[in-house]
Amino acid sequence: MAIQKGDLLYAGKAKSVFRTDREGIFLVEFRDDITAFDGGKKDVLAKKGSLNARVSAFLFSHLKECGIPTHFIEMIDERSMLVRSLDMIPLEVIVRNVAAGSMVRTYPIAEGTPLNPPVLVMDYKDDSRHDPMLNDDLILALKIVNADELARIKELAHSINRILFQFFESLDITLVDFKIEFGKADGQILLGDEISMDSMRLWDAGTGESLDKDVYRFSKGDVLAVYRRVAERICARE
Ligand code: TYD
Repeated sequence: MAIQKGDLLYAGKAKSVFRTDREGIFLVEFRDDITAFDGGKKDVLAKKGSLNARVSAFLFSHLKECGIPTHFIEMIDERSMLVRSLDMIPLEVIVRNVAAGSMVRTYPIAEGTPLNPPVLVMDYKDDSRHDPMLNDDLILALKIVNADELARIKELAHSINRILFQFFESLDITLVDFKIEFGKADGQILLGDEISMDSMRLWDAGTGESLDKDVYRFSKGDVLAVYRRVAERICARE
């Protein structure tokens, strides 16, 4: 699909979104920036953008094949994907299969405790308020979505978790937790944003080693080498 990149619409911490010359299609560019702790730690790592783009594209395609509606259309170069433009819903939907991260910092539960059934939480996406955690009543009171949309988001999040958990299990990787975002187009709810090593917590099932942004957050080693290894492991199924 020959398509022209247009104006920059929005630049996030690690991705930029551009208009295109096609109505309803945006271009998402994965940059080499990496940040953690609300932007308190920042670096640029050559090739990091293309590794996350490749993994996101692979996982969106896999989810699409499994019947999940997503915004993904196609990759047009190693760091740029075409997506359907969505009205983004300001929720960070987090699904947890194993206790880690903010869950063990906030609540009395040991890191590594399996969570069965998985735990779904939603944060209000607003950096200036530090993404406060919501519950169903707050989501409805704030009119972020209506009750039917909320039910659909939860159903999709659980389905996505089942599909991704099984996929990673087949690679001997534990999908500990991840964050996804949804948007609306033509009254339908679709998975948007990205699914990458920046937005998932992945542990090697054998060694427990981190294969995700925790390597960067907690200076556990060569983050680029880890991202490259895990991208190769994931995309070997292509
Ligand atoms: P969480 O444990 O809540 O936060 P932290 O990463 O600070 O320990 O994160 C759960 C998962 O969601 C983890 O895989 C990282 C991802 N996530 C994001 O991608 N962006 C975010 O803003 C947050 C809060 C989490």
